[in-house]
Amino acid sequence: MSIRINPAIKLLAHILGPELLHKAWLRLLKYLPLELEPPRGLEVETKMGRLRSPIGLAAGYDKSGKYLGALSKLGFGYIVVGSFTLKPRKGHPKPRIAYRDAEQAVVNSMGLPNPGVVEFVRNFNGVKGCKVVASITGDTLDEFVECFTIVQNIVDAVEVNISCPTHEASMGMKRPETIRELAERLREFKSKPIYIKIPPPATSEDMDETCKLLKVWMDCGMDGVTAINTLLVDAPELALGKGGLSGRPLRSTMLRTVDRIRKELGDEVEINAVGGIMTGKDASDALRAGANTVQIMTAMLFRGPKAPRRIAEELISDKVC
Ligand SMILES: Cc1cc2nc3c(=O)[nH]c(=O)nc-3n(C[C@H](O)[C@H](O)[C@H](O)COP(=O)(O)O)c2cc1C
Repeated sequence: MSIRINPAIKLLAHILGPELLHKAWLRLLKYLPLELEPPRGLEVETKMGRLRSPIGLAAGYDKSGKYLGALSKLGFGYIVVGSFTLKPRKGHPKPRIAYRDAEQAVVNSMGLPNPGVVEFVRNFNGVKGCKVVASITGDTLDEFVECFTIVQNIVDAVEVNISCPTHEASMGMKRPETIRELAERLREFKSKPIYIKIPPPATSEDMDETCKLLKVWMDCGMDGVTAINTLLVDAPELALGKGGLSGRPLRSTMLRTVDRIRKELGDEVEINAVGGIMTGKDASDALRAGANTVQIMTAMLFRGPKAPRRIAEELISDKVC
């Protein structure tokens, strides 16, 4: 199924620009009387607990945590909030989000703008119905560890983001010795599941390296992986001139990555699949490839707030067929 941007979203994005539209939309969501429970029959057991649906919201949609209450009414099994750094960050210059409608994709060079992890914790009130996962990132291992100790007690799990393609410091951490040190330091304080979010492996050598890295991660007592983040591409439409590509073009790499990780690392690793999941069929393919849960981001931008409910219904009918 080909997913084009909802025409109303396209018009508003043209008038306001995608980032302003997204901000306006998040504010409006608080006031919409939406209570979209997922259909029954999709419940799943994970290391963070029982989820009402395997469909989660990926990191980056709510970068502050201010909208968790409204987002929890859309039928997600869990929401990844952030990514947070220790101190607030402004991110890269604007424009930093653009739609690529024909490719069913988005490019972004947000550069991790966020209010800082302390501000998130201060404002967090908890949510009903779905689990909350905090995504953390940083420039140094110390920053990761500090963010982790600040946030882990108020959320259900933590996602460690070392894969934002326009943030060189965290991308530079994807070496086995650095990952071992990070995991060993996190393990000292760990009381919640921890997932690592990885970049898309571009070549078969990258895929081998990714599996080595994940073996180290799991050997150190960590819980799983979120695969995959966006792919660095040229993006003349953004102020930075480059950005992370998301949406349909990531789908085949995501599926290959999930399949390989499951085969190579076995049942112990929990896999959250993300990248190009736009429909129930995409979600179902990811689950069949070995994922425990799936996450969506670009599908929300293209299909609007009913995306999790619609994808869940499509997933059920794909299961039945
Ligand atoms: C506008 C935008 C902002 C994002 N911000 C983050 C982020 O802060 N942290 C993160 O780990 N991933 C971030 N991502 C990546 C998504 O979480 C996801 O991995 C990626 O978009 C692939 O999924 P999709 O094809 O469903 O969009 C962002 C993606 C987009 C489009």
